[in-house]
Amino acid sequence: MSKNIFATKSVEKLIRESESGEHGLKRTLTATNLTMLGIGAIIGAGIFVLTGTAAANAAGPAIVISFIIAGLGCLFAGLCYAEFASMIPIAGSAYTYGYATLGEFIAWIIGWDLILEYLFGAATVAVGWSGNFVSLLKSIGITIPEVVAAAPLSYVGGNFETTGAIINLPAIILILVMTALLVIGIQESAKFNNVIVVVKVAIVLLVIGFGFQYVNSANWEPFIPAKEVLAEGGTRYGWQGVVAGAAIVFFSYIGFDAVSTAAQEAKNPQRDMPIGMLASLGICTLLYVLMSLVLTGLVPYQTLNVPDPVLVALEAAGPSLQWLYFFTGIGAVAGLASVVLVMLMGQPRIFFAMSRDGLLPAVFGKVHPKYNTPYVTTIVTGLVAAVIAGIFPIGLLGELVSIGTLLAFVIVCAGIIILRRTSPDLKRPFRTPFVPLVPILGILICGYMMVNLGFDTWLRLIIWMAIGIAIYFLYGRKHSKLRKQNEADEAAKVPVI
Ligand code: ALA
Repeated sequence: MSKNIFATKSVEKLIRESESGEHGLKRTLTATNLTMLGIGAIIGAGIFVLTGTAAANAAGPAIVISFIIAGLGCLFAGLCYAEFASMIPIAGSAYTYGYATLGEFIAWIIGWDLILEYLFGAATVAVGWSGNFVSLLKSIGITIPEVVAAAPLSYVGGNFETTGAIINLPAIILILVMTALLVIGIQESAKFNNVIVVVKVAIVLLVIGFGFQYVNSANWEPFIPAKEVLAEGGTRYGWQGVVAGAAIVFFSYIGFDAVSTAAQEAKNPQRDMPIGMLASLGICTLLYVLMSLVLTGLVPYQTLNVPDPVLVALEAAGPSLQWLYFFTGIGAVAGLASVVLVMLMGQPRIFFAMSRDGLLPAVFGKVHPKYNTPYVTTIVTGLVAAVIAGIFPIGLLGELVSIGTLLAFVIVCAGIIILRRTSPDLKRPFRTPFVPLVPILGILICGYMMVNLGFDTWLRLIIWMAIGIAIYFLYGRKHSKLRKQNEADEAAKVPVI
């Protein structure tokens, strides 16, 4: 059995299969499209919401260093993703890389884990979007009753409680609209994403540019506040706080790897996948470092413990930056919408690859005859994400998304070291520099951020993985195309006496 579940699929075979007519997606995306998709997925709830709480509760002004640490972890993982994506330029991202290096079982584990990143990620950000959208409408005099615009469940002290709300309708509508767009076409989706990305990056630049003029450098003193022991247990600030802050703001970097799920729709994937991932990551890291410097420079970090820290920081500059408030609201709404779009693009392409290998039902591999999109998986993903976003609160989901993504990053980094040993001669249009140092640093930084996430989050990850393993043994293993083929090959070898 173990031989079967750890059987790998050669890179050549994976590429050959992906090119067969039945699974053909349309190659239309350029390097610019891919970079924009990366930025579309990256800038969102993390910078517009989490920066404030992470600065106030964990790191102080040194949240800037937290962003650099999390950014380095992503850079090392990103370099590993770039090698894989240029070498195996087909749908499926880390799931497919896992199949080529660590075998079917680990690939399934990664694929199942990526549901946390993409499907749950889309639902989480849609809930954040709904909150921002409702506030933006309120600021122009339109009120949406909370009973239809908030989660009906809250999660307090380990228990679910009802909130009095019925459904989070704006979150559901956003997901359904994005799903429809993704069914119609990858190029249409990419064009829509480009427009949103231009808007949100412009607004981030405005906040940085105008905000810098009002920075009071006294707010950066002390840059790393002294460590404090909390009455309820645990500590905050100090270097430990900086690392805890990195684990929180890691969420803001999630998404650059979503670019790799679209590998089968890129015009020149060998060259453009690394560009798309690394350029989007580099641009966003720079924006995040500058933005967190401005926010912590405008106000004392303790005041940033709010759901709209950018607005609170701008208010400190007095009436002169009032004109930016409304744009900041637009930036958050646009920013979060494109994150949802790209996450909802990534998930179906992973399901699509899993179905190609027989680990999910064949219907998941269907490509629309007119739109050339994996429409069945896109619709299934959208419906499930809409239900989750309509019911659950954001707090319950956020850390789960981070731990799931970090786990995938750790496995991808390990995969690079393994594949360099097992298949040193494979054509690698992009090579991760300084192997094994870079992947090892990726594993260490991402692993350390995982350790800094709470016990509850670990427990949820373990339960989620246990469900996934059960499904693999009940369905995937029996239907695996690789296993069936290996068994047929074995049978053909038995000598006839
Ligand atoms: N990086 C994405 C965000 O911050 C998930 O919303």
